[in-house]
Amino acid sequence: MKNTTQSVNRQENRINLEDFKEELVIEAPGRINLIGEHIDYNGGYVLPAAIDKKVRFLFRKNNSDSINVWSKNYETGFTAELSNISPSNTEWHNYILGVIHHIHLIKPKSVKGFDCIVESSLPIGSGLSSSASLECGIATGLNTLFSIGLSEEEIITLSRDAEHEYVGTKCGIMDQFSVVKGEKNYLILLDCQTLDYKLIKSEFSPYQLVLLNTKVSHNLAGSEYNTRRKECDEALAVINKKHFEYKFLADVPVDVVESFKNELPEKVYNRALYVVQENKRTLMAAEAIEDEFFGLFGKLMYESHEGLKHLYEVSCDELDFLVDFSKDRDYVLGSRMMGGGFGGCTINLIHQDHVKSYIEKVSKAYKEKFGIELAPIEVNISKGVSKK
Ligand code: GLA
Repeated sequence: MKNTTQSVNRQENRINLEDFKEELVIEAPGRINLIGEHIDYNGGYVLPAAIDKKVRFLFRKNNSDSINVWSKNYETGFTAELSNISPSNTEWHNYILGVIHHIHLIKPKSVKGFDCIVESSLPIGSGLSSSASLECGIATGLNTLFSIGLSEEEIITLSRDAEHEYVGTKCGIMDQFSVVKGEKNYLILLDCQTLDYKLIKSEFSPYQLVLLNTKVSHNLAGSEYNTRRKECDEALAVINKKHFEYKFLADVPVDVVESFKNELPEKVYNRALYVVQENKRTLMAAEAIEDEFFGLFGKLMYESHEGLKHLYEVSCDELDFLVDFSKDRDYVLGSRMMGGGFGGCTINLIHQDHVKSYIEKVSKAYKEKFGIELAPIEVNISKGVSKK
């Protein structure tokens, strides 16, 4: 993160919450990812979808040179001068400040003074992409409020850039893409290299997607996320010495990665092997879902989790416990950790007749083991960021 002077007054709330009259309401969804984890920044395929858990933004112009933002969830707000936008010490401010900074790189001085109230039904830090939802909601809101004329593609990439530079997480493009481009009842098979995508009907009947929130909160910026990215770059750099043709790690065939087993440090080799295997799994999974081979898709989910646990090493005991618990129950077709890892949710494909009883069983066992109330989350596949 850039280290510059603070332009943010954190104590102050210049918004009168009682009689706030908004000009614009924007809702930005969270996302799930069915498979293809840690693949976006490696230039491969992912299979996400936007969901009906959202962040809601109320906007109005304030005819001044400052911005005032209030978070209902945190019950705190901040004020910043538009002439002096720079990173804050408070992480959630930076999603907003970063977006303004990056809008101004494309359209200088286009954002004017505004007030905004933010309220989220997305659990924060649980792998549902509350960050991208915040970024893309703010970007879309300001684009509309001030008729800035940014395209959806610009909103997606500037939001990602804001996260890189203001928050410090070197994330890929999957979250921002799904938050903006999501379609009701469709999964997005996204090629993260070209941003070409195919919509796939999200139809799993008689099975149902269920998320289980470990309530172990991750913090990607402070975690190993950026290290994984570096390890992947390292693997590609070594492979590129012999094979120049691969621009991204996900492009490298599995047997080529395997031929580097003795040339790469063990960890780096494992990361690379996971990436190329997971990329293949994602394409197979998309086909399996289209063909309604849900058993095969479930098997691929389990394999994905094994790779994330042993090769990519981004799982944790709580996530592993939930996945293991489902394994000998044939009504759970598949289960895996979802998102960046180190906590957050598992995504599970469960027969609809057993969802309720399974949740009861797994919650009891989870409470006994970790002393934490498991939080099941029901999700429906929904459309991307939109004006209400
Ligand atoms: C986070 C990042 C994404 C992606 C996932 C892992 O959600 O923001 O870009 O890398 O982790 O698949």
